[in-house]
Amino acid sequence: MKKILVTGGAGYIGSHTVVELVKTGYTPIIIDNLCNTSKQNINGIEKIIGKKVKWYNVNCTDKIAMEKVFLKEGRFEGVIHFAAYKSVEESVQNPKKYYDNNVGSLEVLLQCMQGHKTQNIIFSSSCTIYGMPDILPVNENSPSKTAESPYGETKQLCEKMLLDNTCNSVALRYFNPIGSHKSALIGDCSSDKPSNLVPIITETAIGKREKIIIFGNDYNTPDGTCIRDYIHVVDLAKSHVLSMSFILKNPGKHTFNVGTGIGISVLDAINTFEKANKIKVNYSIGQRRSGDIEKIYANCNLVKSELAWEAQKSLEEAMRSAWNWEKRKEINEKS
Ligand code: UD1
Repeated sequence: MKKILVTGGAGYIGSHTVVELVKTGYTPIIIDNLCNTSKQNINGIEKIIGKKVKWYNVNCTDKIAMEKVFLKEGRFEGVIHFAAYKSVEESVQNPKKYYDNNVGSLEVLLQCMQGHKTQNIIFSSSCTIYGMPDILPVNENSPSKTAESPYGETKQLCEKMLLDNTCNSVALRYFNPIGSHKSALIGDCSSDKPSNLVPIITETAIGKREKIIIFGNDYNTPDGTCIRDYIHVVDLAKSHVLSMSFILKNPGKHTFNVGTGIGISVLDAINTFEKANKIKVNYSIGQRRSGDIEKIYANCNLVKSELAWEAQKSLEEAMRSAWNWEKRKEINEKS
């Protein structure tokens, strides 16, 4: 029974990963102070896996409380570290909050790991570290550009901290995670006002917003709108489980892109949502959003050859699950 510590295990990607860990035979232990998620995700995990999950309501930057968890639990086989703030916009307004929390929590975690003979860590990184790429698709050796935001800078700093530490690490550079578990029992419960495209599409479809504003249609892309690589969160979750199994056999430092390798425009994404859910959403064309990247999508050859991981789920399936989650949230909010 391999015990895995999952920080941020009640969050969007964390909760999906906890479910996949259990399915694969690992025993996840969650640390989450619910500062930007809901207890609802813990309940959802338990419903899906059909048993209780161990959860500590602890802030990862609190060294004393973190030490207590490590002392109580004994040795972990590995750690998956999700706990971090994730709003690009907020990070520009309040950079200190992001450095203190995102960098501070990794620092505390690495100290605890070292003191308790836990060697292996999987880290949530982001394709944001590539900035505006010169060559597409981006691979893991593509240059890391000056970050567009303090949020992006914390991801770069954390990757560097892992390289400078004695631990074994896998940094997973996520492209754009979307969708939810098919049960719609877990999902993105963050209190941030959504700024990502797919939650904005679903909020428009349910009537919380009047329309989607497409941020520019004058980019150098086939339909003029920006291109991204949208990855189903369940596929993404599975890449963490495979990374854990991989690092137990292959100590050292590793970095993998996790995307589909397919570039999708904003208009493609909206059309796919409409088709998959047989529902129309209002949109109009607005100004470009400052800091937006014209196009980015992943080269996933490395993750495929090393982890035998490949995205399985289609964009349609992701859009259906995103819509189911929005409808479920509405029911929960009303009850
Ligand atoms: C953003 C962050 C990235 C972060 C990721 C987390 C920026 C510049 N980048 O990525 O660092 O890792 O979220 O999920 O904020 N769009 C619209 N209208 C909207 C919302 C979005 O047209 O109302 C477009 C955007 O211009 C973009 C695409 O949809 O082309 C995706 O946007 P979004 O979901 O915010 O993700 P990213 O910008 O790729």
